[in-house]
Amino acid sequence: MAKEKTLFYCTNCGNEESKWQGKCPSCGEWNSFTEHKVTKTSKGTEVKHKKSISLDDIVIEDSFRYKTDIKEVDQVLGGGLMKGSSVLIGGEPGIGKSTLLLQIADSIKKNHKVLYISGEESANQIKLRAKRLNISGSGINILCDTHFETIIKSIKTEKPNLIIVDSIQTLQSDEAGNIPGSVNQLKYCCSQLIKETKDIEATLFFIAHVTKEGIIAGPKVVEHMVDTVLYFDHSASRIRILRSVKNRFGSIDEVGLFSMEEKGLIELEDPSGVFLTKRESGLPPGISIGATLEGTRVILIEIQVLTVPAKGTTSRIFSDKVDVNRVSRVAAILEKHGGIKFSDRDIYVNIAGGIKVKETGIDLPLALALYSSRTDIPIKDGIISSGELSLAGEIRIIPHIERRVKTAEDMGFNIFLSPEKVEKTSLDVKEVRNIKSAIGLIL
Ligand code: TYD
Ligand code: MG
Repeated sequence: MAKEKTLFYCTNCGNEESKWQGKCPSCGEWNSFTEHKVTKTSKGTEVKHKKSISLDDIVIEDSFRYKTDIKEVDQVLGGGLMKGSSVLIGGEPGIGKSTLLLQIADSIKKNHKVLYISGEESANQIKLRAKRLNISGSGINILCDTHFETIIKSIKTEKPNLIIVDSIQTLQSDEAGNIPGSVNQLKYCCSQLIKETKDIEATLFFIAHVTKEGIIAGPKVVEHMVDTVLYFDHSASRIRILRSVKNRFGSIDEVGLFSMEEKGLIELEDPSGVFLTKRESGLPPGISIGATLEGTRVILIEIQVLTVPAKGTTSRIFSDKVDVNRVSRVAAILEKHGGIKFSDRDIYVNIAGGIKVKETGIDLPLALALYSSRTDIPIKDGIISSGELSLAGEIRIIPHIERRVKTAEDMGFNIFLSPEKVEKTSLDVKEVRNIKSAIGLIL
């Protein structure tokens, strides 16, 4: 028998509660609960025994994965698209999500039927984009609709191999209330689409807009439902980074790098130097070059630090590309072991090209940039570094040092400050054990 029940959902994280709450117990957001009427059925169906099978009897079919022609995309997905899987791709409006998906559609349309469902744009707008990208239509079908039941019917009838939904925030089902983009709508439409995709062994891409804070607009519930979650992000104006934050079918270490050009997204074959700035003369004070890892690739970055007298009574750190806690920790290590003070200073940190770096290897180049800014002495030209800092001021070993050194050598650097020795390189690799000896080598 069907029963109507009232439930409350947090619009921030999708948490479900039977009573209204002022503060979400799951994510801590205030006033985020909205009321929804749901119909629950309690059928007394008989449960049959389903026989389990031995692990040895399970055969993995290779044909379940297929590649696109876009290497960067395949790499991020863990080797290509999986049949029956669902992928959520989030990014700010205008970043190039629709462009990327249309290019993916183009790259597989020869052997696979594509259905591009758009609730965001008209068929004309999509056609204009395709023309700009030099994509011809055969093999790609377009359905401009937001009505969920109509969309499901088309999928059942046309049985495409790749389904693209642009975007999940526009879907609306008769079964799940009347606010498009609400938790109920998202939960219902996405779960049904995932189920349908599995049934016909297709691959499903959901596009989702991301808010400024970096959260996929609407609840996080969709992230939990899908197999893979990708974020499309930008750094320097043209450069786009595709990251995987969840992947049931591969590692989440890989990133895909593209450049947004006149004719769409172009893969960046050798991204190692794209974030470096070319200068006629030497580095100004406060700038240091580091070799960092993005996924498994080495990328050289320029860390910029500015330290100025504190404007308030306490010193503050302004840093959105490097974690503020890391900056604070490295500054404290320098105070203790480098003999300089930051307590009356505001610290601004930036990375050229706007790339965000989380890897521990940037501790050392960050410390050197902080030191150079505070003392107003520039770092000598041609020096690059990598290393993690311990609270005791020691420089600790980091992964893939040989590859970092090799990339720096290729990019024309002369001296590499490294936590360990590296053989077989023409670069002058100086093994530095603590922050004090590193400082002694840069000025
Ligand atoms: P789009 O894919 O529409 O972004 P999203 O779906 O994430 O909102 O791309 C938006 C921007 O990309 C738009 O401002 C124009 C630019 N662009 C190019 O520079 N080159 C191109 O070939 C295309 C198609 C778009
Ligand atoms: Mg779009």
